[in-house]
Amino acid sequence: METLLESAVGQTATLPEPTREGAHSLEAALAKRRSRRHYEDRPLTLEQVSQLLWAAQGQTDPRGRRAAPSAGGCYPLELDVVSAQGVLRYLPDAHALRKRLEGDLRVECAQACSGQMFMAAAPVTFCFSAVYERTTGRYGERGVRYVHMDAGIAAENLHLQAEALGLGSVAIGAFNDDEVARVLGLPAGEKPLYLVPVGYVQARRPDAARDS
Ligand SMILES: Cc1cc2nc3c(=O)[nH]c(=O)nc-3n(C[C@H](O)[C@H](O)[C@H](O)COP(=O)(O)O)c2cc1C
Repeated sequence: METLLESAVGQTATLPEPTREGAHSLEAALAKRRSRRHYEDRPLTLEQVSQLLWAAQGQTDPRGRRAAPSAGGCYPLELDVVSAQGVLRYLPDAHALRKRLEGDLRVECAQACSGQMFMAAAPVTFCFSAVYERTTGRYGERGVRYVHMDAGIAAENLHLQAEALGLGSVAIGAFNDDEVARVLGLPAGEKPLYLVPVGYVQARRPDAARDS
């Protein structure tokens, strides 16, 4: 993550090209995926972060279509990366990250997520937020449902890509919307929907299931 570390707030760093042919099969990722909540104290590489972002929201054709489908091609989701280096916004058009906030906000972010402090140990947490109007402007009230479908699909892409990279992740739905929005400095009109911590899984730490 060196390039990101060096960048100042407002600066943009282009990400490494994602691979489109990995060593792992989709079936293997599906079979292995579990919620993982214990992470090693080990940073992710820029290549890994690039690959995860691409799987979640990356552009996969010249018309701007993305790896994850979106109702009506409205693309209501924004995606931030929370790491020790600050909060960075993914720019799918450029496959780049723009730094939005300086400093390590992982503990504050975990506190905003019902105090799920295991999140603070993850080197990276992804946060999907939504601008509902992009979709409800076209579909009205039904668009709310579509935005949530979009988020679930994009997040599952991220979970499966993490598994394929030998990393662990977990869905985080238990959080205080206003607190997450405040900690991550989300622009007005963007609502946090789904967070995903990702990291190397600690060996020999059984992961108790949670019902949320
Ligand atoms: C929408 C949603 C929200 C979730 N929220 C949380 C959460 O806040 N914290 C957590 O530890 N796990 C959370 N989970 C993970 C579930 O507890 C987990 O998927 C479930 O126990 C099944 O285990 P598995 O993912 O290992 O198959 C969430 C899962 C989903 C789908």
